[in-house]
Amino acid sequence: MAERLAIEGGAPAITDPIPAQGGGPGANVIDEQEIAAVTEMLRKRQLFRFNPESKVRTFERNACARIGVRHALMVNSGTSALICGLIGLGIGPGDEVIVPGYTYIATAAAVVAAGAVPVIAEIDDSLGMSPEDCEAKITPRTKAIIPVHMQGVPARLEALLDVARRHHLKVLEDCAQCLGGEYKGRMTGSWGDAGAWSLNYFKILTCGEGGLIFSDDYVVYERACFASDPAMPMWMRETIATEGWETKPFSAQCYRPSELLGAMACVQLGKLDAILAHTRALKRAFLCALEEPKGYRLQHVDDPAGDCGISGTILIQDPAMAQRYGEALSAEGLHCGTAHNDGFPDRHIYRYWDSILDKNAHHPSASVWSHAAYEGEIVYSREMCPRTMDILNRAIRFGFNMAMTEEHAKQMAKAINKVDAALG
Ligand SMILES: Cc1ncc(COP(=O)(O)O)c(C=O)c1O
Repeated sequence: MAERLAIEGGAPAITDPIPAQGGGPGANVIDEQEIAAVTEMLRKRQLFRFNPESKVRTFERNACARIGVRHALMVNSGTSALICGLIGLGIGPGDEVIVPGYTYIATAAAVVAAGAVPVIAEIDDSLGMSPEDCEAKITPRTKAIIPVHMQGVPARLEALLDVARRHHLKVLEDCAQCLGGEYKGRMTGSWGDAGAWSLNYFKILTCGEGGLIFSDDYVVYERACFASDPAMPMWMRETIATEGWETKPFSAQCYRPSELLGAMACVQLGKLDAILAHTRALKRAFLCALEEPKGYRLQHVDDPAGDCGISGTILIQDPAMAQRYGEALSAEGLHCGTAHNDGFPDRHIYRYWDSILDKNAHHPSASVWSHAAYEGEIVYSREMCPRTMDILNRAIRFGFNMAMTEEHAKQMAKAINKVDAALG
């Protein structure tokens, strides 16, 4: 007989409260090393990235070695990295770029910033872009796709790359939430034509705010550099001359990072392996402690070995039952709800991307949707991705953080086993 649920007056499954943490894993391992690195730059009064001992440059080189790519440019956010990546890939007015309906609004906003039109595709049970729907959304104007590796879990990259190859599309991997994740033995971000990291406060590594755009293609790098700073022809004049850059400088915004960010990012990168060892051990302990499910399925993970281990998601058969699981689990001490709590405008869900869905631009003549070069007509609606909403309404997500122990992870699984035995 199933144990009495805490929501019905039984004893909660979780006896040692699961610790919560503000900020992502990187923020929660900040110690004297980051403080010393940033303080050193302040003492030296050396804050500008273009200097002979540049910490930003050191971070770019170290990140290249870690990712296994040739070129990387640090910028001041993940959004900037995506914008520079798209411009680097030659995306602009008249083009369409396919993004998944479940990603931070910045993915779609970056497409608009590059002058192109975002096309929203359904996700599937991987919570990443559905390769089938991505292919269905291709038009003669499609130039690129942005697979997003959400919550540390690699998307269905092999199938998405296959779609892109068959239709001659560029691939920009959004690894903002999957920094350090791997796919079939190679780092996420190194499969596509370019990859992007975010180093904001909530990410696997952080320097407060920051980003990285990387690629094996030198021309993508050249173009990304020009896209990141209108004065780049001046700052990088020696490199441009020595390497014989083929790109003509073009006007741009400024996304240049300071040496404070570079110094902190260098230290954080050195902690990546330890962070991932911890989060992956938590997720392994969690998965091993789960019993055979009755009323749910685990999120599909295309390559479990490459998963960063920062999240776990279960998919319940219908939204009403998902609500009941969420409430019962919370009473057991595992605070959670469905990924889509109606009324809470989560900017990771396309239906809350108001500025995109309403096609708002900062100036009427700056609209990418009515640009003279754009020959399509995209119709957005809050109901346009029913499969995405169905999945998110049935998905219950748990995070693994740096304060948790494997015992906490096992207790989380115990709570799920108990609720599933009663409700499944
Ligand atoms: C999937 C995804 N893409 C892009 C970004 C943008 O990164 P940033 O906040 O550093 O600009 C984020 C950040 O939250 C993200 O989660």
